[in-house]
Amino acid sequence: MRIENFKVEEWFNKYEKDAVYDLADTCVESLSINELFEITGNKEKSLEEIFNQKLNYGAIHGSQRLKNAISSLYKNQNSENITVTHGAIGANHLVMLSIVEFGDKVVSIVPTYQQHYSIPKSFGANVEMFFLKEEENWLPNLENLEKIVGKDTKLICLNNPNNPTGAVIPDEILEKIVEIAKKSNAYILCDEVYRGLNHEGNPFSASIADVYDKGISTSSMSKVFSLAGLRLGWICANKKIIDIINHQREYNTISMGILDDYFASLAIENKDKIVKRNIEKILTGKKILLDWAKINKKIHIIEPKGGTTAFVRYDSELNSKQLCKELQQQTGVMILPGETMELDGYLRIGYGNNFEQLKKALEIFTQWL
Ligand SMILES: Cc1ncc(COP(=O)(O)O)c(C=O)c1O
Repeated sequence: MRIENFKVEEWFNKYEKDAVYDLADTCVESLSINELFEITGNKEKSLEEIFNQKLNYGAIHGSQRLKNAISSLYKNQNSENITVTHGAIGANHLVMLSIVEFGDKVVSIVPTYQQHYSIPKSFGANVEMFFLKEEENWLPNLENLEKIVGKDTKLICLNNPNNPTGAVIPDEILEKIVEIAKKSNAYILCDEVYRGLNHEGNPFSASIADVYDKGISTSSMSKVFSLAGLRLGWICANKKIIDIINHQREYNTISMGILDDYFASLAIENKDKIVKRNIEKILTGKKILLDWAKINKKIHIIEPKGGTTAFVRYDSELNSKQLCKELQQQTGVMILPGETMELDGYLRIGYGNNFEQLKKALEIFTQWL
C-alpha cells in the first residue's frame, strides 16, 4: 500500500546522527536501568526476578500486572480495557487498521504526529485536516470543528497534550469535542503520549477513554516515563473496541517483549516519582526557553502548558527546512522544521533534555539568526 513519506521521522533519520546539540528530541532525558532501579528501589529482588524469567512469549495482550498498572493511569478503566502494543506508534497504527476503511471520512486536528492523517489517507479514506492556530492559543475552534466534522465523520484524531505546540485541551473543551463527535457517532482517537506531563495542576488531565464511550486513548512508556527504549505502548478503550482491535492485532503483534512488560510494570507502579522527576526537568527547560524567547525579538512563543515541546514562530526570510538545514550545517544545532509538521514559518524545540546543551544551543541560535 502506498503511503506518503513520514516527514518528521525522515528528518530525524537524516540529521540526528550529526547533531552536536539536539533540540529536536521530544523525550525527557531517558532513564538508564540503574536509574530506574534507584527510583523503584529493591534492585536485588528485581534482578533476581529478571534473571529467573523464562523468555517465552509471555501474556499475549500484556501481563495482568502491566494491564492493572496501565489502567491505574485512567479514572474509569480496568485491565479488560487495555491492550499493549509496539509503542504509541504501533497503537495508533492498530487503531487505524481496525476502524478506518476506504471512503470513510476522517477529521485530523493538525499539527500532530503524521500517522493521524497519512495512514487513513493511505487506506483511501477522505481525510480533512483541521488546522490549529497560534492566535487561538493552538486550541481547536469548536464552531469551525463542528462544521468540518458534519454528520458523516467516522473518526476524529487529536493529540493531547499536543506535539508540537504544547497546548493542553481544557476538560470543558474536550467535553465539547465529544459532543461534536456524538452527533455523527464518530470515534475519537486521542494520542495521549504526553498525558502525565501537564506543567501545572494534575499532570494527568482527562483522558478521552474516560469521557467518551467511543473514545480511544493511545499512549506509551516513551515520554511520560522516559523509557522509549522499551518500545512499549498501549490502547485503552471500551471492551467492544478493544476486542475489534485485538482481532487485527493477532496479525502483527503476538505479544510484547517479556522484559519490556516487566520494566514497564515496575515504572508505572512508581509513576508518582517518575512523573515528579520529569516535570521538574521540563519546568527547568521551559524557563530556559522562555527566558531566551523574551530577549529575542525574532522569536514568538505561545507558552506550552504540557509535554516537552514548543512551536516557535520566527522572523526570517528562510523557510523552516532551509533554516534548520543551514543552522545545523553551520553550527551543529538541530531543530525540527515546522514544514515537517505541515506548518512552515515555525520550528519545534524540545526542552526536556540536557539543560547545559539547551542553553548553549539557544545562544548559538541567537547569534546565528
Ligand atoms: C504524538 C506522538 N505520538 C506517538 C509517538 C510515538 O511514540 P512511541 O515512542 O511510543 O512509539 C510520538 C513520538 O514522538 C509522538 O510524539
